[in-house]
Amino acid sequence: MKGVVLAGGLGTRLYPLTYATNKHLLPVYNKPMVFYPIETLVQAGIRDVLVVTGGPHAGHFLRVLKNGKELGLRHLEFAYQENEGGIADALRLCEDFGDGQPLTVILGDNTTDADIGPAVQSFREGAMIFLKRVPDPQRFGVPVFAEDDPTRIVAIEEKPAVPKSQYAVTGLYIYDHKVFDYIRSLSPSGRGELEITDVNNCYIRDGTLRWAELDGFWSDAGTFESLFRANAYWAEKARQQQG
Ligand code: DAU
Repeated sequence: MKGVVLAGGLGTRLYPLTYATNKHLLPVYNKPMVFYPIETLVQAGIRDVLVVTGGPHAGHFLRVLKNGKELGLRHLEFAYQENEGGIADALRLCEDFGDGQPLTVILGDNTTDADIGPAVQSFREGAMIFLKRVPDPQRFGVPVFAEDDPTRIVAIEEKPAVPKSQYAVTGLYIYDHKVFDYIRSLSPSGRGELEITDVNNCYIRDGTLRWAELDGFWSDAGTFESLFRANAYWAEKARQQQG
């Protein structure tokens, strides 16, 4: 399977840190943030990756990632997102790269030590999303479960003021090629973006969305608090591994 890292957007929530470089190149303990999602893909057996980026510092990615060999990639390519049109707008740029095959997609500011390899290897069609129980679900996409079946997701709400579950929809997804038709059917949300949550709701409506709980640490790193939390986790993990 091929993989996609979505690392567009302007990172305005992290101003002034992102005045001089792209958010996904900021440090998370001892590595640039974008190394983490790439390593998650490599660990899952994915060696062929497209990084979508954008904004004024997109060129910095080439200096940091080069041809991807140091991270274990066989093939690395880049796409440029013109505006901050949303996660689904960034994913839209990956249609030719996907070539009709399923894609594993990960947001460039997500770090996890969970192993998604088995889910990647067993994926056939539809969509797969990964959930994580969090203390602040209102910051994320939040699944709504059926009242008569707590394992069935009936909808996903993006940043609901009153979350209907304690889960976040993490920024790791596996999609079949229908994802691009679904993106074409979307309209921009209230915040002017093509929302990945709307894509996932398309798969819920056609009855082909499955989910699993991520087994391990997971955090985004796009706010000061979550960036700090991710740094603290990876620093502590390295300290423990050193003995
Ligand atoms: O981290 C998980 C959450 O990510 C999900 O629970 C939400 O459903 C999903 O909408 C998203 O929420 P955020 O508000 O955290 O997304 P944010 O705008 O911070 O973008 C996350 C990453 O997506 C960003 O680091 C790069 C990529 N992105 C984002 C936008 C808006 C793009 O590549 N292009 C974009 O235009």
